[in-house]
Amino acid sequence: MLHTKLDSFPNEFLWGAASAAYQVEGGYDADGKGPSIWDGFTKIPGKTYLGTNGDVAVDHYNRYKEDVSLMAEMGLKAYRFSVAWSRIIPDGEGEVNEKGLQFYDNLVEELITHNVEPVLTLYHWDLPQTLQDKYGGWESRETIPAFKKYCRALFERFGKKVKYWVTFNEQNVFTAMGYRWQSHPPNVSDLKRMYQANHVINLANAEAINLFHELVPQGQIGPSFGYGPSYPLNARPENVLAAENNDAFNNQWWLDVYCKGEYPVFVMKQLEKLGIAPEVTEEDQKLLLSAKPNFMGINYYHGGTVRENRLENTVETDVETKEFSATDPYLMQPKNEQAQSPEVPMFESVSNPYLETTEWGWEIDPVGFRLALRRVYAQYGLPIFVTENGLGAIDVLEEDGTIQDNVRIEYLEKHLLEMKKAISDGVEMIGYCAWSFTDLLSWLNGYKKRYGFVYVNRDEHGEKDLKRLKKESFYWYQHVIQQNGENI
Ligand code: NOJ
Repeated sequence: MLHTKLDSFPNEFLWGAASAAYQVEGGYDADGKGPSIWDGFTKIPGKTYLGTNGDVAVDHYNRYKEDVSLMAEMGLKAYRFSVAWSRIIPDGEGEVNEKGLQFYDNLVEELITHNVEPVLTLYHWDLPQTLQDKYGGWESRETIPAFKKYCRALFERFGKKVKYWVTFNEQNVFTAMGYRWQSHPPNVSDLKRMYQANHVINLANAEAINLFHELVPQGQIGPSFGYGPSYPLNARPENVLAAENNDAFNNQWWLDVYCKGEYPVFVMKQLEKLGIAPEVTEEDQKLLLSAKPNFMGINYYHGGTVRENRLENTVETDVETKEFSATDPYLMQPKNEQAQSPEVPMFESVSNPYLETTEWGWEIDPVGFRLALRRVYAQYGLPIFVTENGLGAIDVLEEDGTIQDNVRIEYLEKHLLEMKKAISDGVEMIGYCAWSFTDLLSWLNGYKKRYGFVYVNRDEHGEKDLKRLKKESFYWYQHVIQQNGENI
C-alpha cells in the first residue's frame, strides 16, 4: 500500500458545531411564537422517550449569550443553528413577528462579535402548525409561497451578516420519519404521500435557492442531506446490484434533484410502475433545473449495508453474514425495513459484520465518512460542508464536576482523520460542524442521549438547573481548532 503525507486542512477551514431550534431553544411560546408541528407531536402520549418535549429544551433562548461565550472560549469558527419559522411568522404565512427576528439578530450579532461565523438553517423540521392544518403542510404546493415569504424575511434581514445558509435539513430523514414510519409529525404512513411531500419540498428548496441568489448574491447556500454510503454485504453480483439500488433510492433520489435538477430515471420508473411517483410538471422541471446550490451539506452518521432481497429470490447462503435483530433508532425501525425500496424489495438491509455500534445501535464507520465525502464530491462536484457528525451517548457527570466523554473524543478523532484523508484525496471542503455544541433534546430519545461538547444539567423532566459544564471533549476540540487539525 502506498502511503503519502496527508494534506493539511485549509487555513480558512470552518471548525464548527451545530444545533437546531426545537432541540435547544425552549421558549416555545415566547414573544409571540406560534406553535410548530413538533410542539403538538411531542405531546402525543407514547411518541417520545418519557414524553420529553422542547418546551424548555436547554433554554438557549434565554441563555444564548452564555452559550456563545463558551463557543468563543473554545475558539469555534462556525456555529450552525436553525431558525424557528413560527417565531418569524407565527401562523406560517401572515405577519412577520419583529420579536422573533430580533432574537436571531441578537444571536447573530453575538456570534459575529465573538468571531464565530453564523451558519443559518432555514428549515430544521419545525413547520408552523397552521400550515399543516390549513394546507396539509409539505404535501401541498400552497406551502411553497409561505416558505418563500419566510425566506425573504430572513434573507432581507440577515443577508448582509450571514454568509452560509442551509435550506432543508435532512429532507430524506424527516419525510421518511413523518410520512412513512409515523415517528415524526405529521405522523403518516403512506408512500405516495411521502413522495408527493418530497417533490413539494424540492420545489420549495429550488425557490429558496433562486431567491437567495437574487437577494444575497455574495452568500452561499445549499441543502443538508443525511448521507449514508451504501455497501453490498459481499461481492456477490446480486448483492452489489442491491447496494446500487439502495444508493439510488436512499441517496440519489434526493441528491440528483438538488445538484442536477433531475430525478434519477431508474427510481422514477419504479415509482411510476407502483403508482406512487409525484407529478412533475414542465414548469416544475424548469424550476428544479434552474436552482444551483453553492455547496452540498452532508450530515454523516452511518451508512447502510444491504443484500439481495430474500423474500423474492432463492439465494445461496452469503458468506460472513450475521443475524441482525438490532433496531436502528435513527429511523426507529427494524433494520430490515428501514431502507427498503417501496413495495419492490430491491434490497434488504443487514448489519455490517465489520462494524461496532454505539449505545444506540448505530454503526460506527469512520472510513464510510471518507467514502461518503469522496462519492458525493465525485458525483456532484460541489464543495462539501459537513453540517453534522457526532456521537450520541449517555454521559456521566462525575462528583467532581467533570464529564469524561473519551468515547466521543475517540469517535470524533477517527472521523476527522478520515475527513483529512478525503481532503488529501482532493475533496473540496468548506468546514465541519460537529453535532452538537451543547447537549440538546434528541427528538425521540429525550435528554438521555447526549451529543454535546458542553454538558447541560437537566433530566427528562427539566428539573435540574440547566447549568453548562465543559466535557473532556470540549478541551479536545478546542485543541484541534487551535492546531487547525494538524494534531489529527
Ligand atoms: C440529524 C438531525 O439533523 C438532528 O436534528 C439530530 O438530532 C441528529 N441527526 C442526531 O440524531
